[in-house]
Amino acid sequence: MSLFQSIETPAVTYEQPLGLFINNEFVRGVEGKTFETINPHNEKPIVAVHEGTAKEVDIAVKVARSALNGEWKEVTPSERGRLLTRLADFLERDIETLAAIEALDNGKGVTMAKGDVNASAGCLRYYGGWADKIYGQTIETDINSLTYTRHEPVGVCGQIIPWNFPLLMFAWKIGPALATGNTIVMKTAEQTPLSALYVAKLIKEAGFPPGVVNVISGFGRTAGAAIAAHMDIDKVAFTGSTLVGRQIMKSAADSNLKKVTLELGGKSPNIILPDANLDEAIEWVNLGIFFNHGQCCCAGSRILVHEAVYERFLELFKKRAEQNKVGDPFSTETFQGPQVSQIQYDRIMGYIQDGKGAGAKVITGGDRHGSEGYYIQPTIFADVTEDMTIVREEIFGPVCTVQKVHSEEEAIRVANDTNYGLAAAVHTTNINTAIRVSNAIKAGTVWVNNYNTLHYQMPFGGFKESGIGRELGSYALENYTEVKTVRVHLSRP
Ligand code: NAI
Ligand code: MG
Repeated sequence: MSLFQSIETPAVTYEQPLGLFINNEFVRGVEGKTFETINPHNEKPIVAVHEGTAKEVDIAVKVARSALNGEWKEVTPSERGRLLTRLADFLERDIETLAAIEALDNGKGVTMAKGDVNASAGCLRYYGGWADKIYGQTIETDINSLTYTRHEPVGVCGQIIPWNFPLLMFAWKIGPALATGNTIVMKTAEQTPLSALYVAKLIKEAGFPPGVVNVISGFGRTAGAAIAAHMDIDKVAFTGSTLVGRQIMKSAADSNLKKVTLELGGKSPNIILPDANLDEAIEWVNLGIFFNHGQCCCAGSRILVHEAVYERFLELFKKRAEQNKVGDPFSTETFQGPQVSQIQYDRIMGYIQDGKGAGAKVITGGDRHGSEGYYIQPTIFADVTEDMTIVREEIFGPVCTVQKVHSEEEAIRVANDTNYGLAAAVHTTNINTAIRVSNAIKAGTVWVNNYNTLHYQMPFGGFKESGIGRELGSYALENYTEVKTVRVHLSRP
């Protein structure tokens, strides 16, 4: 099978790299394995890509190690920053192509996908700015000593990303790792390998030395597991399910105790209090759950509404959700495309059946949309109780539950009644209430009168079982540096 193929999309025709990206070259796997990626809009294969397994991970780790100890080490921090900003420029230059790839491979609307490209470029440029601003401290203990700290790269970083934001997760992961001087073996999600391979080509074009970024298309139980268990990977960063997050931590513990950061699931509460501006709140609630077809780790999937506005809220929310444009990812009007895969589609439909069976009331949706592709109607369940599976488990689709609460205290208690703690929101026009509730919620991000407004300058990550460590902002840099203390004893003349 070839290493490149011309792909025609309704928006652009472009050349898609298909190989594994190792040492700045697109290559075949050792055994020549390949696998197909599916277009979720029509359930048909798009193209086959070369597959990496433990063997190719091993090869990639070796070249990443030699780049770390060789050419990459010689690159100055400012030059690292320049490489990152140049890569950001290339993403923006190729925005039409990258957005089309995301629409094709993941199913997100092209307009949304363009937002992802811009956010990815912004993230890379932001970390480019950090590259020459990473330094330690000088610590005065006594006159006979000089002590200072160095923030050194952790080393070879294994990074495993999911399919919900293929390009954006790639950028979130490589930005801080490269700014701080690490090298990378990245495993993309098997459902969405295409955009990262295209960016790999841009990484070479930007001038990164060979071996600094390596991209492996492959499956979790083979390539992913090999990264988590590898004896010569110094750190693993993972975004995905809590189940796999646990396995990765176990593998890290059983192998070389590589550093672990995890960005996992959520069941985030979105609280509407009686004094909220309801029209504005509805917009944010709608975006909070239905953005990216509900395939967001921070999706506002548990909507907690005060009894004083419950009925009115349901009426307005139903109306709003029914206006969401569901359909072809290549229509610029599309807000919601298909779910990413048959597996995800089945899982979500299973939760919908479960909710109906448990007696939750379907306010809107509750069925497949159309007859082809993994489309699901925006679905609102109301009159739910805390013990229902649809209220407790992450659904990761366009499905939310609306629950009635009777006081601020109850809203806080219910909001925190979960093993997760990724995000939350409160809608109120009272600043005191806003801050009181924000402080009381156990979550890594709390939005007041908005939702899903992530930004690369702001740290993002989970309390409780939603993860370990923070991505984005200056906080992410800490995951990619080891602090070395150097204490010098000063001899007296
Ligand atoms: P997953 O956790 O299996 O996949 C995420 C990534 O981990 C992929 O690259 C996959 O290949 C890799 N992976 C899978 N098994 C692995 C292993 N044993 N060792 C190392 N890497 C492994 O998630 P999946 O099955 O695609 O989705 C299932 C559920 O996970 C979703 O319904 C959702 O609830 C949650 N999820 C959360 C995401 C988030 O952004 N936090 C993203 C994707 C899924
Ligand atoms: Mg796909």
